[in-house]
Amino acid sequence: MKTKKLKVLLSKGKIQKRITQLGKQITADYKGKDLVVICVLKGAFMFCADLIRAIDLPLTVEFFGVQSYGDNTHSSGIVKTTLDVDISLEGKDVLIIEDVIDTGLTVDYLLKYFSSRNPRSLKLCTFLLKPECIQQKVDIDYCGFKIGKKFVVGYGLDAAQLYRNLKDLVILT
Ligand code: IMP
Ligand code: MG
Repeated sequence: MKTKKLKVLLSKGKIQKRITQLGKQITADYKGKDLVVICVLKGAFMFCADLIRAIDLPLTVEFFGVQSYGDNTHSSGIVKTTLDVDISLEGKDVLIIEDVIDTGLTVDYLLKYFSSRNPRSLKLCTFLLKPECIQQKVDIDYCGFKIGKKFVVGYGLDAAQLYRNLKDLVILT
């Protein structure tokens, strides 16, 4: 097997700086609201863990599991739910936390699904956005970084379930 090279795209320091900014913005926007953060598994777990610690408000955290890539590096276009949120979201201010928006198919599905559960408000925060890959237009409320058309891993993101434990976001070459 050919050994893959890892090229750092976003260092852990750069990631943490941006998360501090996002946390401040979200704290200001959600003051006095009933914030429920939904972490989309698996890729967003690390971003979500850091982001919620940058939000200075009472909040609750739920986990939602989806799979769209399998072991491939391109979207299958079919979104499969692997874990559902089993509390009521009626009247809550729901913020979905996603790792990366590529084609937009996954978040389009997530927004439609969660709006059917009657939250008071529904917003989307993504760690990464690949603007060149979008097929389905979606409204993004908070975005960590815009990146090019590269497959990236680390900081929670995987390739065939590996590399999630890297501290930086890297490009596989
Ligand atoms: P989309 O439905 O094409 O927008 O893909 C979104 C999902 O695909 C994300 O939630 C990720 O889990 C996965 N994904 C997309 N691009 C990458 C990448 O560069 N690295 C790792 N996972 C990715
Ligand atoms: Mg993934």
